[in-house]
Amino acid sequence: MNAAETRQREKIPTEIHASADAASKVLAAEIAALIRARAAEGRRAVLGLATGSTPVRLYRELIRLHKEEGLSFANVVTFNLDEYYGLGRGHPESYWRFMHEQLFNHVDLPAAHIHVPDGTAPRGEVFGWCRAYEEQIREAGGLDLQILGIGRTGHIGFNEPGSGRDSRTRLVTLDSLTRRDAARDFLGEANVPRHAITMGVGTILDARKIVLLAWGEAKARVVAEAVENPPVDSLPASFLQGHPDVRFLLDPAAGSELTRIKHPWLVGQVEWTPALGRRAVTWLSREVKRPILKLLDEHYGEHGMSDLLTEQGPAYNLNIRIFNEVQHTITGWPGGKPKADDTHRPERASPFPKRVVVLAPEPSDEMLGMGGTLSRLVEQGHEVTVVYLTSGNLAVPDEEALIVTDLVLDFVNGAAGPESAARGARAALARKLADPSASDTPETRRLKGLLRRGEARAALRLAGVAANAERFLDLPFYEKGRYRQFRPGEADQAALTALLAELRPHQIFATGEGQDPSSVGAVCFELLRAALEANREQAWRKDCRVWLYRTPDKAWAPHEIDMAVPLSPAQLARKVQAIYQHKSQRSQTPAGEDLHEAWQQAEAAARAIAQTYDSLGLAEYEAIEAFRRWMF
Ligand code: F6R
Repeated sequence: MNAAETRQREKIPTEIHASADAASKVLAAEIAALIRARAAEGRRAVLGLATGSTPVRLYRELIRLHKEEGLSFANVVTFNLDEYYGLGRGHPESYWRFMHEQLFNHVDLPAAHIHVPDGTAPRGEVFGWCRAYEEQIREAGGLDLQILGIGRTGHIGFNEPGSGRDSRTRLVTLDSLTRRDAARDFLGEANVPRHAITMGVGTILDARKIVLLAWGEAKARVVAEAVENPPVDSLPASFLQGHPDVRFLLDPAAGSELTRIKHPWLVGQVEWTPALGRRAVTWLSREVKRPILKLLDEHYGEHGMSDLLTEQGPAYNLNIRIFNEVQHTITGWPGGKPKADDTHRPERASPFPKRVVVLAPEPSDEMLGMGGTLSRLVEQGHEVTVVYLTSGNLAVPDEEALIVTDLVLDFVNGAAGPESAARGARAALARKLADPSASDTPETRRLKGLLRRGEARAALRLAGVAANAERFLDLPFYEKGRYRQFRPGEADQAALTALLAELRPHQIFATGEGQDPSSVGAVCFELLRAALEANREQAWRKDCRVWLYRTPDKAWAPHEIDMAVPLSPAQLARKVQAIYQHKSQRSQTPAGEDLHEAWQQAEAAARAIAQTYDSLGLAEYEAIEAFRRWMF
């Protein structure tokens, strides 16, 4: 495929880099060149900055360039895109604080050159304040470079759907999806501010150069729509299409929904490998809403796939081949069926029983993604160990933790040691509820972690997993970190490496691949990769298969599934019950029309895969949990 063909549908130059780190380094080098060029002319470089998970790696690299390569920020002026309205500078989630912690405190940027919208401006003064911000940008000479992330609503800055192309800096109302995405940071949607001050779309478009960064599969859909579809105000990032100097830098997961990646046969000539054939045929079946075995030559012809037929057809032979391939992914024996012919089964028959390790980045991930399969593995006699990589304490609301401290206090009533710890935690929680900018003490975090242990155990017992089959690693990167700001290190990797060496698994079930690289899941997946590498010479590793599961927010497409484990109605109900044990993770807001609660999402996701298999013309199951084999 030549370059012109691959870009056919993209109206914004879009680069897919090997990883978020690689893309961040490219942009950091460009920023360094801009700053140095401006300094050489005796001028200032004016940067528009974003917050959130996305630019964290970029800022780390800029700090490195400052510390190791002498990049000075003395001639840099910065303007941040946005700030939550109502948050003071000291609030843990304020963007002012974020920018200082992530960048400003570590470089020689003069304080007077920093501009972040003021979330505390009184209502009556906000309008004037916003006009003054625009004026300050103009006085600085306009933005040389604007760095952007993108929200799942398609927002840039906090310009939510409905924002006009010409909008300027103003007070806005946050979209409900944006508030839900921020709920984890604020420990509950109810705590997320409803308003923000943001530069407008017009303000952003005035920048001389714009670079948008996006990582992880959760952004893939909105990125593809922004660059491929006509500009509309229901997707503000699509307005970037009109800009003369704009680029998107993506990691592979964020680029995965671009037509040239997802359906390459629609934009040019492709080499029809067997894997691409399966992808194209399962896609065609869903596109024309016909089971695989009923696809006709004309369906192939009308969808840019005639050359596939020429190479691998006629249609009926190709249909049967793909149908059989999908059929062979289905198994009720996720650990392999002992003494059976395993030629066409996803997992090998021997050894039996297998040592199975199920890795959960945070407690409940394993139930959401593979609760039914977990029960089956246990019932079928495998030696299953569930490993909780992190304590999950960051996700426990204070109200839940209070219930537990009070319970401990009532229970020990007078006993010395635990009581004073619980009293300390009780006082810290009360302080925190009164002052939202206070952080958890180590004691309250420990307590919240213990609460999640209790829930995880209750869920495992319900799923039929015997007592003591679980391990809690409480990896230090999580205990020392905050969301978006984790820094995994040697100790994390050593803990997982040692655990795998001890358990010598035949099968590992893991998740996190393709997620936002700053998420707990993705950090844990990278640690698994490193731990497997460190165990490279071990005999067990050569005989170990890794199966990837997914939490409900992103399902595998049919061509990505290597093992599909059907669940009966009773098994599905049991899985839902087990998820329900994670009580501290229930939504803090009353459920609306859409599926808010984790168990609802998990149930819907498992049913959806079954429906997909049904629509492809395979057997109709109640629900399916799907896995992909990871060739490491
Ligand atoms: C942040 C901002 C937002 C974010 C977007 C993505 O200043 O303006 O538009 O860029 O919400 O957030 P993350 O990076 O956390 O996924």
